[in-house]
Amino acid sequence: MTEPQPAAATGTEPETFSPMRWEGPGLRLLDQTRLPLEEVWMDCEIPEQVADAIRRLAVRGAPAIGVAAAYGLVLGIRTVRDPERLAGRFDEVSELLGSTRPTAVNLRWALERGRQVFLASAADGPEATTAALLAWARELHADDVRINRRMGAHGAALFAAGSRVLTHCNAGALATAGYGTALGVIQSAWEQGRVGQVWVDETRPLLQGARLTAWELKRLGIPFRLVTDNSAGALLSQGLVDGIVVGADRIAANGDTANKIGTYTVAVLAHRHKVPFYVAAPLSTIDRATPNGAAIPIEERKSLEVTEVFGTRVAPEDTQALNFAFDVTPAELITAIITEVGVLRAPYERSIAAAFGDS
Ligand code: MRU
Repeated sequence: MTEPQPAAATGTEPETFSPMRWEGPGLRLLDQTRLPLEEVWMDCEIPEQVADAIRRLAVRGAPAIGVAAAYGLVLGIRTVRDPERLAGRFDEVSELLGSTRPTAVNLRWALERGRQVFLASAADGPEATTAALLAWARELHADDVRINRRMGAHGAALFAAGSRVLTHCNAGALATAGYGTALGVIQSAWEQGRVGQVWVDETRPLLQGARLTAWELKRLGIPFRLVTDNSAGALLSQGLVDGIVVGADRIAANGDTANKIGTYTVAVLAHRHKVPFYVAAPLSTIDRATPNGAAIPIEERKSLEVTEVFGTRVAPEDTQALNFAFDVTPAELITAIITEVGVLRAPYERSIAAAFGDS
């Protein structure tokens, strides 16, 4: 592991694109279901709108979901006038937001931290509690960006000059509060001349790679080529990939990692072809209460997302699809986990414990 560093602000970071803002009537989210064809910002004034946005992937990606949920708590509490109703409403809203997506542990992580802030301020009444929660949510937002930049710096050093790097799904600014995890590493490496080209897996069924990663890379001016998910084997066997970096929705205590469906396939192929396979994720994605991958809950989404493409049926009527949103890559296939405190290597039980400061 490289030297642990605190995720403190330097105050000198340049502005970075964020898919959410606290402005206007509440939380403004870039509706990611409309990208890349339209850039539509939607206003959420009540927590039910945030929950709905998370469920239908208007805001998605584990860290982004966590920060959006933090603002969702503020929206839920700010309308409470009666101090007696404060705790009940907090529980209700926290449960609503927590029920939206089961795999991304950043959601639960953020709600638990929000509860601590709530408990510390509730005795001061609704107005003070709302102010405390909002200050905390803003800080969480800013902190996520700082963490991602630090992760980018640690991860960039892993790539040799001009590397051809493959990524799956979208783990960019859109999937976080800004800068991104896996895509942050790619951006940072590219700025240092370490990335020559990015292979973007299209990522069926909802095409986060084609719609979102390609959109981000184009904006950043980083050269990329889009490939179908089933191209990974051909690319790797022809020696066209030098390294792989993906994000994570939850990392178990032993390093097993849940990420977008199809990640495991890429990891197996990387192992077969001796290409490094990296996971980039903040410590908030590591769930030490989950011992291994088998204990990670895997979200199953609607059959319709597979049988239809943008509202057009592509399978015979009444076809039932199995739509796991995520799969688990066993720790043994992961070359390293890039975090904000350094690059973790196997055995992960030990390096993860050290990253959390266990002696
Ligand atoms: O279903 P999604 O689009 O929320 O899935 C996103 C991913 O799998 C990302 O790789 C993961 O959340 C990490 S985002 C920094």
